[in-house]
Amino acid sequence: MVLPIYVYGHDALRQETEPVEKNTEGLQTLVDNMIETMHEAAGIGLAAPQVGHSERLFVIDLTPMADETAAEDEPLPPQPMVFINPEIVEEGASTVDLEEGCLSIPEVREVVTRPERVRVRYRDRNFEEQELEIGGILARVVQHEHDHLNGVLFTDYLSSFRKRLLRRRLRQIAEGDIEADYPLITQGDETVPAR
Ligand code: NI
Repeated sequence: MVLPIYVYGHDALRQETEPVEKNTEGLQTLVDNMIETMHEAAGIGLAAPQVGHSERLFVIDLTPMADETAAEDEPLPPQPMVFINPEIVEEGASTVDLEEGCLSIPEVREVVTRPERVRVRYRDRNFEEQELEIGGILARVVQHEHDHLNGVLFTDYLSSFRKRLLRRRLRQIAEGDIEADYPLITQGDETVPAR
């Protein structure tokens, strides 16, 4: 089932999240729905708060970026990937600038500086413990999605200059002056159907 995505300005994106306690049928259904929603929205990552759930969980599928990831040194793990109760346990010293977007902030893209490599500990969808040391696009998307679980959006990192330039557009998005190829829920809990 495709779930509507909460947009910039909605409290759901800033709420506290709770660890997933155990592997249940409900968890598996949520994971399936999040993967379907991410694919429908042509996104490469989606975190539970973006669909109004407060569990610490996100999904990633870098298949649409196959050309870019193939050019990287490390082979990509099988996609899609499910990260339950993820923790970034180590950050590399070097940073990299990359452009980011977010399904909750349609049509806005900005350059963000983040560590180039991270070590992430998590449970996969079978609730097995995993640990990965990653770089490249995967490390970037993991950090972006992990932020969502702490109520942080990529626009929070922008300089006050860039924020000022974006302020009007972000307010319009929050107020529902926005269209996307997937259903949205605005700050005022209004549903915007897919365009
Ligand atoms: Ni995002």
